[in-house]
Amino acid sequence: MLEDVFLKKLKDEKATIEKYLKFYLDSLHVPGVLHEAMEYSLSAGGKRLRPFLAIAVADMFGKPREIIMPYACALEFIHTFSLIHDDLPALDNDDLRRGKPSCHKAFREDIAILAGDALNTDAFSLLFEFGEGNIKKAGKYFAKAVGGRGMTLGQVYDCTIPENERTVEKLDFINYYKTSELFIAATAGAAAWLDAADEEIKALEEYASNLGIAFQIADDILDITSTTEKLGKKVGSDAALNKVTYPVLIGIEGAQKAVEERVLKAHKALEPFKDKEGAEIFTGFGDYIKNIMAKNN
Ligand code: IPE
Ligand code: IPE
Ligand code: MG
Ligand code: MG
Ligand code: MG
Repeated sequence: MLEDVFLKKLKDEKATIEKYLKFYLDSLHVPGVLHEAMEYSLSAGGKRLRPFLAIAVADMFGKPREIIMPYACALEFIHTFSLIHDDLPALDNDDLRRGKPSCHKAFREDIAILAGDALNTDAFSLLFEFGEGNIKKAGKYFAKAVGGRGMTLGQVYDCTIPENERTVEKLDFINYYKTSELFIAATAGAAAWLDAADEEIKALEEYASNLGIAFQIADDILDITSTTEKLGKKVGSDAALNKVTYPVLIGIEGAQKAVEERVLKAHKALEPFKDKEGAEIFTGFGDYIKNIMAKNN
């Protein structure tokens, strides 16, 4: 099963990703409590999916690790920043993240806000100071994925969508910005960093756009069906905040179906890579998302 191939490679790469995360963070020489808070959240665990996808892109294109690692780690800096801010009392008000107290609980709220800010900006330090990729080509995907046209915009939509606009179409739109954009940076952006052809970048964009939406729907299902222990974050958080999700709009079964449809679309987008060694990892990631709900993790 390709899901197993995906999971095995993810497991094999995790320690390398974490070693590089520590290396880059230490290389920045951020002083004192700010370094502590950044390191606390960065090293707290997590699946490391976004850096892993960037590595899988490099492997598929036969490019060496040295080139992709700064880019891969920059993605995890951004993702970790997004989670620190997502958990703040002003946003989702979650006290548990990756099985540990959220950054604002382990440190103070002000420090958590600032640690998020530093991780956000220092992601760009990794690209500028350690990178040897095509920053101009990739920067477009990377910066867009994070800012006012990407994840941050998605988070604003997530917080502000009016009751009378809660439709599946609107939710796809929110999830695209909130979650797909960073997956696009992890795949299409990584390909751009490695100077891939425009058609290949486009195909990965289509893939990640669908998989990101599938991933967020699966995350929303798990918020209902899984346990705090398994997820390392508090379940029931979406309902407590009256968040609009697929399960709320069309039920858990409908949501599961939507995940399957999105994964199918994502798999179709992989057609241009069908003869490339390493492309099976991307198919395996889709299968993994399809099956997470059954496994509740
Ligand atoms: C959580 O992402 C936030 C969403 C986009 C749903 P992950 O599920 O990838 O979180 P970690 O990195 O494993 O903690
Ligand atoms: C967050 O979505 C997506 C981000 C951009 C951080 P959620 O709010 O559902 O993520 P969790 O469930 O807290 O990880
Ligand atoms: Mg949120
Ligand atoms: Mg949240
Ligand atoms: Mg969630």
